[in-house]
Amino acid sequence: MNSVLLASNRGPVSFTVSDDGVLTMRRGGGGLVSGLSGVGKDLGVLWVCAALSDGDRGAVRQAPGGRLDHAGYDTGALRMLDIPAATFHRAYNAVANSTLWFVNHLLYDIPNTPSFGSRFHREWESYRDYNGAFALALAEEAAHEARVMVQDYHLTLTPAMLRAERPDLRIAHFSHTPWAPPEYFSLLPDEVAREVLEGILGADHAGFLTARWARAFMECCRSLLGAGVDEAAGTVTHEGRTTRVGVHALGVDGAALRERAGEPDVESHMAALREQVGDRRLIVRIDRTELSKNIVRGLLSYREFLAAHPEWHGRVVHLAFAYPSRHDLPEYREYTASVQRCAQEIEHEYATEDWDPLILNVDDDYPRSLAAYRLADVLLVNPIRDGMNLVAKEGPILSSRAALVLSREAGAAAELGEHALLVNPYDVCGTADALHRALVMPEDERASRREQLAAAATALPPQRWLADQLDALNYDQG
Ligand code: G6P
Repeated sequence: MNSVLLASNRGPVSFTVSDDGVLTMRRGGGGLVSGLSGVGKDLGVLWVCAALSDGDRGAVRQAPGGRLDHAGYDTGALRMLDIPAATFHRAYNAVANSTLWFVNHLLYDIPNTPSFGSRFHREWESYRDYNGAFALALAEEAAHEARVMVQDYHLTLTPAMLRAERPDLRIAHFSHTPWAPPEYFSLLPDEVAREVLEGILGADHAGFLTARWARAFMECCRSLLGAGVDEAAGTVTHEGRTTRVGVHALGVDGAALRERAGEPDVESHMAALREQVGDRRLIVRIDRTELSKNIVRGLLSYREFLAAHPEWHGRVVHLAFAYPSRHDLPEYREYTASVQRCAQEIEHEYATEDWDPLILNVDDDYPRSLAAYRLADVLLVNPIRDGMNLVAKEGPILSSRAALVLSREAGAAAELGEHALLVNPYDVCGTADALHRALVMPEDERASRREQLAAAATALPPQRWLADQLDALNYDQG
């Protein structure tokens, strides 16, 4: 029985299975996992996650009770849930990623999508089942009055389901995404919108990365549920229960990141990149190939910049790393193709025999990403909307001289905005201009901004985030 538990869809590791049946383990990706891996392990937290692939299912089936640590893997205490593949796909792809993610990042092409027919309602049933599987596993594993931290939009219903099962537990929910304003959130069918909000309100504490997202959640509770909201106190009261709403930014463990980025594999990627680009200035971006990351407009901005500033031709290279993500969704496959098309157009327009203006990589290579951070002169982070964005925080920690061009719609702008060059992510000309200003920024200004950015980025490391979440639950009890 465990006294502290953490639940998320993606776990800290994932497995691939080769043709001859051999399982290989690697670290999970994305903001949530990068932020929290390592922390939980130190504190003895039991992490409950879903099996995402055949490789994961293979590993779980060989592990007693789904406990990978009991099967000899070096994962920290980890239970992976073997949810039936069809249920998992409907919950993860159709509901979490195609619906809740789209709503909270304002990604719909409104004249055409969404359209909630009977198929959606079947998918919603699977989302319920999947959330129920987490609630059941947590109820089984949790000691009396244990603290349980449920993560993200995949698991909005779990807090209320778990509370029904185990009223003794202290439950937190945390959203790593933005939250939509009520007029956009209410695109969801009314009963679904209610269930999501009431699911989270099953927790004692609902956490968000910025005050803006917390406010949006409270506004949704007020206008869609008629809940009693005290914004100043950060409480939502609904059907006789009160949930506290808290803001907990997530930063980076600077020392651990620097140590990893000093390893020989990163150094050799740095040497290879230097060889490739010479002493040209580098504009770097690193993202999942994700609709909300706004990669196409980022490339269009670089193109505008090249058109407006011929004096930089031959003297600058844009390294754009866009590693694969959510390829089961057609929108993501199409988006990857648009990114590639746009990159080719820039190549055709500007490349010369001895100058490659843009290097686009669409495969995942963590040490190469760390090498790119270390070499960057400019870091471009221009999402349409983002819960936090850890790239904006990691870059200034590792680079010795990068200026940050940052979307004002990224949660990170709340902490970093003062020292970054803030842009409207839809304004391609404005972003092009910011790229230019970042390149010509005087050395002393660049150095002092970078220092301030790195200080802000490391102010709230994951250890602190986790401790604050746990403290918030102590307080709630009493
Ligand atoms: C965001 C979400 C995480 C998710 C990550 C990667 O950071 O907040 O919950 O794990 O994206 O997405 P994926 O679908 O690959 O898990």
